[in-house]
Amino acid sequence: MASPRMIGNIIAIAAIAVAIAAIAVVWRPAIATIDPPAPQSFDSALVKRGRDLAAIGNCSSCHTLRGEKDFAGGVAVPTPFGTVYSSNITPDPETGIGRWSEAAFRRAMQSGIDRDGRHLYPTFPYDHFTNVSDQDNRALYAYLMTRQPAHAPARENQLSFPFNQRVLVAGWKLLFLRHGTYQVDPEQSAEWNHGAYLVEGLAHCGSCHTPRNALGAEKARVPFAGADVDNWHAYAINNQSPAPVPWNAEALFEYLRRGWHSEHGVARGPMAEVVRNLSEVPASDVRAIATYMADMFGAPTAERKRRGDELLAQAGSRSPQAPPANGNAAGASLYAATCAPCHAAGRAPPYGGIDLALSTALSAPDARNAANIVLSGIRPEQGEASPIMPGFADSMSDDQIAALLNYLRAQFSHRPPWTDVTGTVRDARRTQTVSLPNPPADTTQRDKP
Ligand code: HEC
Ligand code: HEC
Ligand code: HEC
Repeated sequence: MASPRMIGNIIAIAAIAVAIAAIAVVWRPAIATIDPPAPQSFDSALVKRGRDLAAIGNCSSCHTLRGEKDFAGGVAVPTPFGTVYSSNITPDPETGIGRWSEAAFRRAMQSGIDRDGRHLYPTFPYDHFTNVSDQDNRALYAYLMTRQPAHAPARENQLSFPFNQRVLVAGWKLLFLRHGTYQVDPEQSAEWNHGAYLVEGLAHCGSCHTPRNALGAEKARVPFAGADVDNWHAYAINNQSPAPVPWNAEALFEYLRRGWHSEHGVARGPMAEVVRNLSEVPASDVRAIATYMADMFGAPTAERKRRGDELLAQAGSRSPQAPPANGNAAGASLYAATCAPCHAAGRAPPYGGIDLALSTALSAPDARNAANIVLSGIRPEQGEASPIMPGFADSMSDDQIAALLNYLRAQFSHRPPWTDVTGTVRDARRTQTVSLPNPPADTTQRDKP
């Protein structure tokens, strides 16, 4: 029989082992500071590629506050656990990453650890950035280190206990952070592989389009199956796609490059930002993304293809509809008076909208995106002949918009009715100002009489 003393020793040894294991999981060393490198020390071609890569990675969307200095951080990124503020990633030596070596930057991208050795929250999508190659990290580093330094101290996160404890992130990583989730597939073309590398890595498409579990990690088993993000629904972009007309590589390229496709409509909300970035990068990168994503959608079934072809053949030549069998005359007349002149008259862009039977918004699992768009409309991009639709927030009540949306759902999709559309509209109205795609600085605060 073991003596009490022996048992005591065993417990002590076990406790020490657990502590060492915990420290091994949690503790990461600091990486020494460097003197901020001179901007001229970076190769200009590398800096230029870094700019394209930063656009593909949407770094600016999360790290630049509207109206503030580029990459100075402080952008509130909402999570189910509270708000995390992005960091200053300008080369400011005090408050930015001016004293970070390339190795420190690479470690942050690949493992979510800052220069001091602290764990970063996965709101910074390093679960994807871990796939970025050393060469591309070098280019990103060169680009960021040649930006204008901005003095902007970090803002304190608003996270509740225990989520405000960064050590917890170490456990999260142990459970969910996988390295090498992108592997070259020798069976596929170079373009497909480049697309896979970008989508699974820098472009982090899954961070919005893949559903997450209760701990905020993407569900690896259902990639691209659709998820909610910032008061929008990021549609399924796999074989579950609700799009009435199946996507193909050509359509994806157009949509991702220009933010609009005649058979699918326009990119709004958080997706508008993504396509704005993709409009600035080499077309070959966007082609590669489209090629890979087309494969993720997969070839449509014969039935789905036939239905899509049928919709396209009818588009624009739809005759005015009689009020539907469900007796929603209010919705029908709102549509006929307010929407049909632009959506059912074959009117050309920028004012002409697509035949609504082609819109993914009306075939989506909930009415959220459709409600957002009816409330806010579509703001034109500055200086371009881009689509324009007025918002109806001030001229229609929640009940009217709900009646309209119920009508559109019944009329223009083959799916069952949405539930609690009035609730969805109310919610959308409450968050309306923050979900506008691109509010110019002077109109972010709407004046209410
Ligand atoms: C979805 C939003 C989002 C995107 C996109 C994003 N970041 Fe971040 N990033 C954050 C947040 C939030 C933090 C702060 C995390 C924390 O405090 O734990 C952060 C932190 C960082 C840090 C650590 C800085 C420090 O001082 O600790 C670096 C470096 C960084 N991001 C670089 C980038 C680069 C480069 C890109 C583009 C390739 C990028 N980020 C894209 C949200 C984002
Ligand atoms: C920041 C979040 C976010 C990121 C990152 C993102 N998306 Fe989206 N995406 C959305 C949202 C939200 C929508 C719905 C937009 C709308 O209603 O217009 C959308 C819509 C789409 C659509 C239209 C689908 C349809 O049937 O209409 C495609 C295709 C798409 N995204 C592809 C991509 C690809 C490819 C990437 C990566 C390069 C990507 N998205 C990255 C949020 C995102
Ligand atoms: C002045 C013309 C105009 C009016 C009026 C108008 N729209 Fe639009 N609408 C557009 C344009 C332009 C677009 C963007 C191009 C596109 O996607 O069709 C658009 C886009 C949409 C979309 C998104 C289609 C997609 O999935 O990309 C929906 C849904 C929509 N409108 C619904 C409505 C409803 C409902 C009404 C009536 C309350 C309405 N629109 C009134 C011009 C208009």
